[in-house]
Amino acid sequence: EKEPVTVLVTGAAGQIGYAIVPMIARGAMLGADQPVILHMLDIEPAAEALKGVRMELIDAAFPLLKGVVATTDAVEACTGVNIAVMVGGFPRKEGMERKDVMSKNVSIYKAQASALEKHAASDCKVLVVANPANTNALILKEFAPSIPEKNITCLTRLDHNRALGQISERINVYVSDVKNVIIWGNHSSTQYPDVNHATVKTCSGDKPVRELIADDQWLNNEFITTVQQRGAAIIKARKLSSALSAASAACDHVRDWVLGTPKGTWVSMGVYSDGSYGIQPGLIYSFPVNCEKGNWSIVQGLKIDEFSRKKMDATATELMEEKSLAYSCLN
Ligand code: NAI
Repeated sequence: EKEPVTVLVTGAAGQIGYAIVPMIARGAMLGADQPVILHMLDIEPAAEALKGVRMELIDAAFPLLKGVVATTDAVEACTGVNIAVMVGGFPRKEGMERKDVMSKNVSIYKAQASALEKHAASDCKVLVVANPANTNALILKEFAPSIPEKNITCLTRLDHNRALGQISERINVYVSDVKNVIIWGNHSSTQYPDVNHATVKTCSGDKPVRELIADDQWLNNEFITTVQQRGAAIIKARKLSSALSAASAACDHVRDWVLGTPKGTWVSMGVYSDGSYGIQPGLIYSFPVNCEKGNWSIVQGLKIDEFSRKKMDATATELMEEKSLAYSCLN
């Protein structure tokens, strides 16, 4: 039997936490033959609820689950961690300024960066889910300089999966037959869901989405805004934000990162920009990536038309603004 992998989930007493821990314990993140130890971190006001989650994990008797730690101590939570899924954060409440929310999250991510840097496994892989996801990941990277920048990512896979879902619904094909959409940029309403390279598997081979959906009007407008605004639509319908789809996407993100993407298929991940596609180096920006042997690499050489260029730059501009706002909170 394989050695267990230790997975940290922060904000584990929250909605996404409650949805993701059973997925991890069932093997949806690391494979059905990979034992796991779960470390769950939350803050003092949620300590009782967190205990309850631990009780349920024990009651579920998951065969792959080799240990559960539920704690409000960041050092204990981060010790020996191989995969860190950062879901904990400070949500925007009614009447709060953007700067106040940013400031709270900057201090959380600065502190947790240090705890991870000091106590996690040296090859720890980090996925930031909590919003503002890209900028939280950037702060984590800045304050954990000994963690390789390649190991710090943020979640845009939910947006990617939403784009696949919209195409599948529109032309009535299986979602598993749609691939290679791209989410560029920020996990926010400025993100750019791009279908220019996406294809659908048909009985006569892979066909471009642009050929199967000849309606450019829909693809260039409604499709994009539907994906961008999907989070808000879920809140409106459920009176709660998306949790099961976010948890599932976080599992997809880590699974593909660790176990690899299928040949000819890419996924979207928020990663450290090396300047690819003219995006300012150092931003955490969502790109199309291929993964192999635990490493991601940005898909190179895709043709970018003028429409895409504008949208890719607009979301980069927003990320630069978020970055300077975050830095202004540090002082
Ligand atoms: P939630 O409010 O139900 O749970 C958040 C949990 O984090 C709470 O239990 C809270 O006590 C905990 N927490 C707060 N500060 C913490 C700290 N310093 N350390 C550890 N835990 C802390 O929220 P939910 O619905 O689970 O969402 C979590 C985050 O994920 C939010 O920021 C949300 O905006 C974001 N999100 C991101 C998505 C993405 O695609 N990137 C999709 C959906 C949500």
